Amino acid sequence: MNKAITSFLMDHAGRNPVSFHMPGHKGSRIYRENGYGDFLDMIMDCDITEIPGADNLFQTEGIIAETMKKYQRLYGVKKSYLLVNGSSGGLIAAILACVKPGGKIILARNCHKSIFNALSLASIEPVYAYPQEAEGYGILGEISSAEIARCMDANPDADAVILPSPNYYGICSDIKSIAEEVHCRGKILIVDQAHGAHLKFFEKHAADKGFPKSAEKQGADIVINSTHKTLASFTQSALLNVVSDRVNQFILEDKLQTMESSSPSYPMMATLDINADLLETTGGKLIKDWAENLDSFYKEAKKIPGLSLIEMENFDRTKLNIDMSAYGLGGNELEEKLMKEGIFIELVTGNIVMCMSGIGNVRSDYEKLLSALKKIDEERQDFIAGRVSLRPEKQPKALTKVLEQREIPKEKEFVQLSEAAGRVCASSLIPYPPGIPIACPGEVIDEDVIEYIKKSRKADEKVIGLTSDNTVCVGKQ
Ligand SMILES: Cc1ncc(COP(=O)(O)O)c(C=O)c1O
Repeated sequence: MNKAITSFLMDHAGRNPVSFHMPGHKGSRIYRENGYGDFLDMIMDCDITEIPGADNLFQTEGIIAETMKKYQRLYGVKKSYLLVNGSSGGLIAAILACVKPGGKIILARNCHKSIFNALSLASIEPVYAYPQEAEGYGILGEISSAEIARCMDANPDADAVILPSPNYYGICSDIKSIAEEVHCRGKILIVDQAHGAHLKFFEKHAADKGFPKSAEKQGADIVINSTHKTLASFTQSALLNVVSDRVNQFILEDKLQTMESSSPSYPMMATLDINADLLETTGGKLIKDWAENLDSFYKEAKKIPGLSLIEMENFDRTKLNIDMSAYGLGGNELEEKLMKEGIFIELVTGNIVMCMSGIGNVRSDYEKLLSALKKIDEERQDFIAGRVSLRPEKQPKALTKVLEQREIPKEKEFVQLSEAAGRVCASSLIPYPPGIPIACPGEVIDEDVIEYIKKSRKADEKVIGLTSDNTVCVGKQ
């Protein structure tokens, strides 16, 4: 029997890998140890449809409404919607609900690809707000409230503002100041908190640990959270929180049912229910343990002489961004070394390896990561003695500078990537992960973009939009 996917998954799980990637539950242990093992044993039998008593995701009045209420309480919001199509579906629905067809939205240029997809669905015109570069790290940083205000003043007809916070690396923007700028102009603020579903609970249970506050607390109108990325629900489950009265819930609900499957998975929704239950009952202990494990990891990791870790103001420390370039190791090589020790990570950018911790990580996971990092130090003492330092690689300029923009091409053709400089992009080019388009439709592709894509492919990274023949879709000349 050919069981390609199944065999891969079972072989991988059978090796007991250490997960520092999504999802946040990190395997069955957290369910079994907290009293949800019976559910796992019966999961296939729980895969049902909307039979009597099972409620309906798109007209909630029973068991699903109860879970929504739990989240409403947990996040302290007006309404919390369960999502079965990831944050992606929630982000698209939120945009379609807040921006009129053919209207304008102000969006951070480093938004996730799902947000760009929403634009094409309703012919919405984007106005890009550019993130700053995180000084000294070569990665994208926060989006300032001044940049948002500048975009809004230049585009008073824009209906809403959307940005990611935290970004993929854990860097947060000052949502409170941004919300003030947005609200004093009478507009709506949508925050893509896909990477920060846990922040609300650090706010509650680890207030002394210096984590950024949740966007719900800081005045955003709609906040979308991928509970699957850092908390304990299954991959693809997420939440959309409505925080203010500025949002028309009737329209939002209509857009949510447009964007999601009409056969939502009950096992997946059950894991959202379990995640809420876990947070309500043992959440305090789990979050405190998580914060302590992180403290101890950062303290010990900092003792390794050639290791750098990102730490800054308004930063979510659950993302462990590790740079060991002082040992002559680029990010891909470091990832390779960690994999040999059975440790799987989330993302490489230049020399930085991002290890994504989650609620399901236990102390021994952090210890295994530390001992793998210490082993590198021991093996490469000579290197650090010589202080051979590779500078962090730059993010593509396309994300921090304005690429020339033209009308989105109506007629298209495919050309070789190496010949695409100066041509107008007709279909987004998206390195994955992190899923941020490096060129969007209407932007003029330049040499910088081409070089970045070539380098990503050389490092075996995926680039959505690049064909297997190395061609890209551009406007016809
Ligand atoms: C910043 C950001 N927003 C949104 C998403 C989409 O989230 P989901 O995978 O839950 O659809 C991602 C996915 O990685 C992301 O990185």
